[in-house]
Amino acid sequence: MDKASIYGDHLEEMNEIMDDIIRRIDELRVEMTRENGMDPVEHCSSRIKSEESMREKCRRSGLPENEESALKLIHDAIGIRIVCAFLSDVYLIRDYLKAFSDLEIVEEKDYIRVAKPNGYRSLHMILRTQNGYFAEIQLRTISMDTWAALEHHMKYKKTLKGNIALMESELKRCADELASTDISMQAIRDMIFDAQKE
Ligand code: GTP
Ligand code: MG
Repeated sequence: MDKASIYGDHLEEMNEIMDDIIRRIDELRVEMTRENGMDPVEHCSSRIKSEESMREKCRRSGLPENEESALKLIHDAIGIRIVCAFLSDVYLIRDYLKAFSDLEIVEEKDYIRVAKPNGYRSLHMILRTQNGYFAEIQLRTISMDTWAALEHHMKYKKTLKGNIALMESELKRCADELASTDISMQAIRDMIFDAQKE
C-alpha cells in the first residue's frame, strides 16, 4: 500500500508559493486602500488541491496518478480565488499579477467577457513560477461568487430530483441579471469616484 503523497515532498514549497502570491495581493490591497480608501479585494481564499481530488482529476484526465501529472500536467494543484466588489478590481488585479517578471501567465480564460453557456463568469489565469510550479487564479465579483456557489451546489448534488431544466434556466437568467447589475454598480462607483475628484 502506497501512502506517499501524490505531490511527493513538494507540499511545503507549494504552500510557500501560495503564501507568496497572497502576500503580493495583500500588498496591493494595502496600497490601494491607502491611495483611494477602497480595498479592491472583498475576500481571498486558497487551497492545495486535496490528495483525493487530485487523484480523481488524474483518473478523469486519463493521466497516471503521479507527481509529474499533479505538478506539471495538471495546473491547479495550487488554487487561489480572489473575490472583488467591482469588475474594474478584477482587471486591476489581473494586470498587477501580469506585471511580475517572475510570474509567467501561461493561460488566461476570460469567462467574464464570454460567459460559459450555463452563465458561469470569472477570469481564470494559470501562472507559472520561476521554479516551475503552476497556480490557478480565479478572479470574480461577489455576485459571480454567490452564483458559482449555488450552481456548484446544484451540479454536485448527485441525487437531485425535480425540474432540473427549470433550475438551469433560472440559474442562467440570474447569472445574466447579476452581470448586468455588476455593470451598473461599476458605473455608479465610477460616478462617485469622479465626483470625489472634483
Ligand atoms: P477543470 O478540469 O475543472 O480544471 O476544468 P478546465 O480545465 O476546463 O478549466 P476551467 O477554467 O473551465 O475551470 C476551472 C475551475 O473553474 C473549476 O475547477 C471550477 O472551480 C471553476 N468553474 C469552471 N466552470 C464552472 C462552472 O460552470 N460552475 C462553477 N460553479 N464553477 C466552475
Ligand atoms: Mg482547470
